[in-house]
Amino acid sequence: FDRKVDMSNVEKGKGYFINYKKMDENIKIVRDRLKRPLTMSEKIVYGHLDDPHNEDIRRGQSYLKLRPDRVACQDATAQMALLQFMSAGLPTVSVPTTVHCDHLIEAQVGGVKDLARAKDINKEVYDFLATCTAKYGIGFWKPGSGIIHQILLENYAFPGGMMIGTDSHTPNAGGLNMIAIGIGGADAVDVMADIPWELKCPKVVGVELTGKLSGWTAPKDIILKVAGELTVKGGTGSIIEYKGPGVEGLSATGMGTICNMGAEIGATTSVFPYNDRMGDYLRATNRGEIADLAKGFQKNLLPDAGAEYDNHIQIDLSSLEPHINGPFTPDLATPLSKFAEAVKKNDWPQELKVGLIGSCTNSSYEDMSRSASIAEEAAAHGLKVKSKFTITPGSEQIRATIARDGQMDILSDAGGVVLANACGPCIGQWDRTDVKKGEKNSIITSYNRNFTGRNDANPATHAFVASPDIVTAMVFAGDLTFNPMTDSLKGADGKEFKFSDPTGKELPPRGYDPGEETFQAPPEDRSQVQVKIDPNSDRLEFLPAWEPYQPGYEKDLYVLVKAEGKCTTDHISAGGPWLKYRGHISNISRNTYSGVISAFTHEANQSYNHNTGKFESTPEVALQYKGQGKRWVFIGGDNVGEGSSREHAALQPRHLGGFAAIAKSFARIHESNLKKQGLVAATFKNPEDYDKIQKDDIVTLEGLDKFAPGSELNLAVKHADGSTDNLPLVHSYNEPQLKFFKAGSALNLMAAAASA
Ligand code: F3S
Repeated sequence: FDRKVDMSNVEKGKGYFINYKKMDENIKIVRDRLKRPLTMSEKIVYGHLDDPHNEDIRRGQSYLKLRPDRVACQDATAQMALLQFMSAGLPTVSVPTTVHCDHLIEAQVGGVKDLARAKDINKEVYDFLATCTAKYGIGFWKPGSGIIHQILLENYAFPGGMMIGTDSHTPNAGGLNMIAIGIGGADAVDVMADIPWELKCPKVVGVELTGKLSGWTAPKDIILKVAGELTVKGGTGSIIEYKGPGVEGLSATGMGTICNMGAEIGATTSVFPYNDRMGDYLRATNRGEIADLAKGFQKNLLPDAGAEYDNHIQIDLSSLEPHINGPFTPDLATPLSKFAEAVKKNDWPQELKVGLIGSCTNSSYEDMSRSASIAEEAAAHGLKVKSKFTITPGSEQIRATIARDGQMDILSDAGGVVLANACGPCIGQWDRTDVKKGEKNSIITSYNRNFTGRNDANPATHAFVASPDIVTAMVFAGDLTFNPMTDSLKGADGKEFKFSDPTGKELPPRGYDPGEETFQAPPEDRSQVQVKIDPNSDRLEFLPAWEPYQPGYEKDLYVLVKAEGKCTTDHISAGGPWLKYRGHISNISRNTYSGVISAFTHEANQSYNHNTGKFESTPEVALQYKGQGKRWVFIGGDNVGEGSSREHAALQPRHLGGFAAIAKSFARIHESNLKKQGLVAATFKNPEDYDKIQKDDIVTLEGLDKFAPGSELNLAVKHADGSTDNLPLVHSYNEPQLKFFKAGSALNLMAAAASA
């Protein structure tokens, strides 16, 4: 297995080879140290350790420093990630990286027109991504190419590899035995810039599959069942590792579906052991060489006998029923046989308005041909869909292949609308017109997420998640209580019929049709490439370099806001309509802390303005202070910055002149993002000191002259009535993080190193 095999056909000749030799060495070192059998996911994770000899390896406790093989970004998150990478001053990314245009395409009337409109509306973003990727050696998948995870599975995922992606469903690549983890843009920038990436050593949940799927039960039902068992939090901090004889009966794309939706139980990632079904998929996608290499390395891509798991569940596939999960949460799992009863009991709207199949979760050839088999049978009885029906191919390759092989015509003839190869309604990019906002209604999708408002921004929409088979059968009934396994439908001739079990080919017998060319490889000579950002753009802006720390900056700081209660990254940097400005730091900063509840007024978006003596909008006050060169601090309660890894929650306060964030405690990723942006992140040594902060206090952060790992800081507080307080603070900075602070940011430090 130490032959030179390219990680991807798309990058042949670039010198990006699969490095099983290094993995093998790492695994031997770790096995020697731990003296115990390893699970399969442990082998892959530890196979990517930066320092296998010395790193502290304790599942669920220590932090690992890792060297992922690749990075992938989707277009919404790539904008700020690339802007940050640019400010590091490096000439090229240090690991193979790709950017995928999939999130910004709105579904309105159908694929072709919707794509054309999106290219027009998002032109400046696409131009920026196309030129920036070309400049820095990044592969660029143009709008229309497909959804990030489908393209990764088709072209880049490989057994035993490790990938990070700026999208939560990156684990989809676990269907090809890759450890693939969704992360924030700041982490992606680190990896692109050759900095080891930190991950809490994952716990491992073993899911033993026995038996074999049959009839109406599909791979999706395995994860729907697992989500019901483990709940939305059950996978937190863990890798879900599938195993057992039942694995052999699943297609690689089916395994991808299961790993994809593992994100819904909060899992770090999900992964299947390497097997021949994966080999078949690799061969079908022209990667037979990788399949052969992986076969020779297979012992490292399976668990050791006797490996121990932190938690263990077992599922018998032979007795597994189809499930329907929802509404409003993906872990409310109901077996199909109980679903009609649940609809009535819970007063869920019985009429099915829309069924949506496809997306990154469920648009494989197998999924599409099984759905087509159902539609074909309905057509034979003269039926068209009763509900609206949409089909989202996951990639141009899938679209072209099902167009050639006839499934697309069958689905369209039944009344389905084929949408662009993009996220569309899965991420709320859906110009839905069949119901009014606020109108109670039901939809069913083969997607993965169904939180309130996710698909159509209508909080009254009851969104259910199921396999594409169940969705397709349901749209012919137009009724949520229909059970295709037991109930009949009336054909056009008035005769009743029951659907047969769906059937479909795992892989296209004539091979995949690649369709239109939608990939832009970075040019060999990149010296002349200019990154395009229109200076008048309201969506993109070059990221300024933050100024380095100067002694004195810590003196006489205003308290901008003191947060009461929960303060997630959404409170700090709101989503929704603001996502449009993700690439424009000045514009998006106008939402900073606007969701935070003030501890003084108990309302959102209220800051005491020292200039006027009144409470005013927080970002407006911060902007005024910035204009006056006046620095400020944020004060927070427990677990500040929980929720997501959104780096904007640290970038925006920094942009508006924030100097420090002081809280009772921080969510770890947010704390690390604050440090990377050169802010001081510290916690009250005595949490009750939080209560001593008043709206018009002026504070000085003492102890920065002796800022060192483990040192104590002091918050010297001057109250408006002339009284003072000294509040001891603690911090968790290590040596490299202290350098970020002094340099102004982690990227400043990199830029200085790059130009030295
Ligand atoms: Fe896109 Fe939905 Fe997948 S947003 S990446 S299709 S989860």
